[in-house]
Amino acid sequence: MFDALLPLTETQREIQRLARDFAREHIAPFAAEWDRDQHFEPSLVGKMGELGFLGMLLPETYDGLGLDASSYLLALEEIAAADASAAVMMSVHNSLPTQMLLNWGSDAQKERYLKPMARGEMLGAFALSEPDAGSDAAGLRCQAVRDGDHWVLNGTKAWITSGTYDKLVVLVMARTDSPDARRGSKGISAFVVTPDMPGFGVGKKENKLGLRASPTVQLVFDNLRVPAENLLGQEGQGFAYAMQSLDHGRLGIAAQSIGIGRAALEAARDYADQRRQFGQPIRSFQAIQFKLADMATRLAAARATLHATAAAKERGERVTQYSSICKLFASETAMFVADEAVQIFGGYGYVKEYPVEKYLRDAKVTEIYEGTSEIQRVVIARELYV
Ligand code: CAA
Repeated sequence: MFDALLPLTETQREIQRLARDFAREHIAPFAAEWDRDQHFEPSLVGKMGELGFLGMLLPETYDGLGLDASSYLLALEEIAAADASAAVMMSVHNSLPTQMLLNWGSDAQKERYLKPMARGEMLGAFALSEPDAGSDAAGLRCQAVRDGDHWVLNGTKAWITSGTYDKLVVLVMARTDSPDARRGSKGISAFVVTPDMPGFGVGKKENKLGLRASPTVQLVFDNLRVPAENLLGQEGQGFAYAMQSLDHGRLGIAAQSIGIGRAALEAARDYADQRRQFGQPIRSFQAIQFKLADMATRLAAARATLHATAAAKERGERVTQYSSICKLFASETAMFVADEAVQIFGGYGYVKEYPVEKYLRDAKVTEIYEGTSEIQRVVIARELYV
């Protein structure tokens, strides 16, 4: 749906088809059950790694596919249309930790982590938020103190996607300034952390409204010993690295939102064709036609803006504002479309025999994570003055 609008290359169409076929075979048939049981299917990581879905943006030197941003976002949309939980795992991994390592990692860090990450032997996670630092990310308190050839980290990181997976590579933002001489966002550094480091603990697992097949946990660091060589890039630059990476991550969440919305629209379109009331299919009523038309219009606009932004990113342009525009508009579109889909299904939209109630639950978080809609508006407005 809406493919005609995008000038896709043959490679992009191939990637899209590959992802669609994979999602239809390996994800969609199980999505409702995984959602019900809050089950994270670990074999998905290996399977997605084999097909290259976990190294889409990494160069071939690091066993990646070396694809452009649009190819990646098209694949992500297909995965999200099958299950938003699988999509968030793929989005966080491809957009945040792997990109941070690629952009600012040392040669040794890249060699050690990027290849297994691209192959799906290790999965990436991103640890910026804390229980008391969400929108105000620079207010984080996790403290890192240098001790010989190690950094020692203490604190709790929150809302960590894929956090229960054992073969994890977590990019952790922690304070390296001293408590008596705080340096704001300049006092934050990034570290490459793995669960085998002494002092690494997995805390509370969240029981969520949606995205229930994606494990979201707290990570608890109790004198976590991180080798000094696992500092990423320069000390004090961790916040800027995280923000720059979120410019990219937010495009992934926009693609995820579009995938959820598209699945909701397709379900509503088909239902409106089959469901008969007052002696005719309900799609013959203008009340339903107007809903379907508004859903399709907003999705088409979200998708076009996303891929135009991806193209600008490929040209090397700064996309901070547009990335927030994409994320804001796509996530609010996903909520709108999923809500209208439930309405079109009527009572059947409100029960678990049909997929649309899940789309509504899954869509909500896209307005919250990787920066709330309110934070996206702050970024968009600020950028008007840059
Ligand atoms: N690119 C590069 N650098 C950036 C940047 C960007 N997009 N945004 C900010 N910076 C730099 C600034 O230039 C500034 O550096 P200088 O002082 O040298 O100029 C520094 O970072 C501090 O920036 P701000 O003064 O703008 O910082 P702030 O405290 O006002 O915060 C904010 C800005 C936009 C509100 C930011 O805190 C934010 O985005 N908050 C939302 C947090 C968020 O998105 N969390 C997502 C959690 S991860 C997640 O959800 C993943 C998941 O698992 C799904």
